[in-house]
Order: sequence, then structure tokens, then C-alpha cells
Amino acid sequence: MKRLTAPDFLARKGSGERLSMVTCYDYWSATLLDQTDVDCLLVGDSLAMVMHGYPSTVHADIDLMALHTRAVVRGAPHKFVVTDMPFLSVRKGLTAAMDGVQALVQAGADAIKIEGEKGQLDLIAHVVESGVPVMGHLGLTPQSVLGLGGHRVQARQAEEARALIESAQRLADAGCFAIVLECVPSRVAECVSRAVRSLVIGIGAGPATDGQVLVLQDLLGTNPAFKPRFLRHYAKGHSVVCDAVNRFHADVVSGEFPSREESYA
Ligand code: KIV
Repeated sequence: MKRLTAPDFLARKGSGERLSMVTCYDYWSATLLDQTDVDCLLVGDSLAMVMHGYPSTVHADIDLMALHTRAVVRGAPHKFVVTDMPFLSVRKGLTAAMDGVQALVQAGADAIKIEGEKGQLDLIAHVVESGVPVMGHLGLTPQSVLGLGGHRVQARQAEEARALIESAQRLADAGCFAIVLECVPSRVAECVSRAVRSLVIGIGAGPATDGQVLVLQDLLGTNPAFKPRFLRHYAKGHSVVCDAVNRFHADVVSGEFPSREESYA
């Protein structure tokens, strides 16, 4: 199994071979994902919600991201791992931001992801010049959920779409090897993908991007009630887990488990 590098992402652009990325937050799921064909793992700051039960991603910080990154890297030695720079970590000056980048790369990240474009270009160029690959993130940027007024589809109007395309071009010029594009109309995502040399990875952005990303727990269907338009459940994760645990419980209550074979003589 060949582990991708950042230049491999760029080489995919225009090749017709789409890239797959899933989120991964812990050692246990990393060991499973390491045995799959998926191209890339994202230690997304969505872990604040999925793993820790917070209402949004603004509760993640560098220490938390580094802790989860170390676990994922230990479990998935064959995968390219990208880690999110968390809320405000890129807004407190260059030195503080570079300390964060250093912590995540030393935790094992192969690249970092930075949300937004406005006010970020100098930092992105500096990180890239420092030898660390940067993935951008445009469209719905969850760290700005308070300013955006909720998790909503972005760039529906022509003016916003034009601004989004220009932002993506500036990110590409600053050196982003890839850009996540979240919750924008398909036609807008197609225009962005055509307009930049970076690999565009969509989530809720239709089929015309260069790749797709989903949250692992979402694609496994662990919460059947969470079914936004862009999500496909690839498994009945909720029933698989609950049925197995309920059968264990029933066997314990009835005395069926453990059997003689499952006990030491
Ligand atoms: O944190 C995350 O899970 C993400 C994906 C939604 C792309 O940024």
C-alpha cells in the first residue's frame, strides 16, 4: 500500500482519478482505516463534536488536535494524515500559529488544514515556505459558524460564488496543495475545481470536484437521524453496534455468556 505525499495530490489534478478522504480521530478506527483503500485521513476539528459532544468545532484547541493526531498516526502508518488548525489558532500572530503548526507536525501530521482565506494568505505562504503542506478550506467554514449564523449552504448568489472562486485562486497562489470545499452548489464547486491548480475535495459540493471527504461516523450511519442531503450512509452502523451490545447484554443476563469454551479450565 503506497502512502501518498502532498505532491501526489497535485499530480492527481486533471488525471481523472478522484481522491477519497475520511475523518479519523482515534487509534482504534485508524487501525481499521489503514487497511482500507481510502487515500487520506483527516484529523478534523469536527472531533470536538463527534468525539467530545461539543455543539461546534470552536471547542477544539492545539493540544486536543495533537493528542488525536498522535493516536491516528500510530494506528495508520500507511496513510497520509492531515490535521486541522483549530479555532483561532491562526489568528493570534505568526509565532503562535507557527508553534501550533510545529506541534501538529511533530505529532505526526503530514499536512495541516486552515479554514478561510481572508487574513490567512501570508501565514499560509509562510507555512508552505517552511516546508509544511497546507490544505485550504472554503465554502462553509465551521469555525466561523457564529458569524455565518449556522451550518448553511454557501455561495448561492452569483456575487458570493465569484468571491469564492477568487478566494480559491488566492489560496492556490499562496501554495495550498488542496482545498476542501464544503456545502456549496455543485455548479459553483465545478467552477472552483476548474479555476485552481490545487486539488479540490468536496463535502456537500456535488460530483465535479477532484475528490470527496466525509466524516467516518456519518458515512457509517452511526446516527441514522443525521442525514443531510449530501450524506450517504454506507452502513447501518447504529444497528450493528446497538444489536451487538444488546445481544451481549442479553447473554450476560441469561447466563449464556461466557460458555465453558470461553472460560479457563
Ligand atoms: O473537521 C472536519 O471534519 C472537516 C471536514 C468536514 C472536511 O473539516
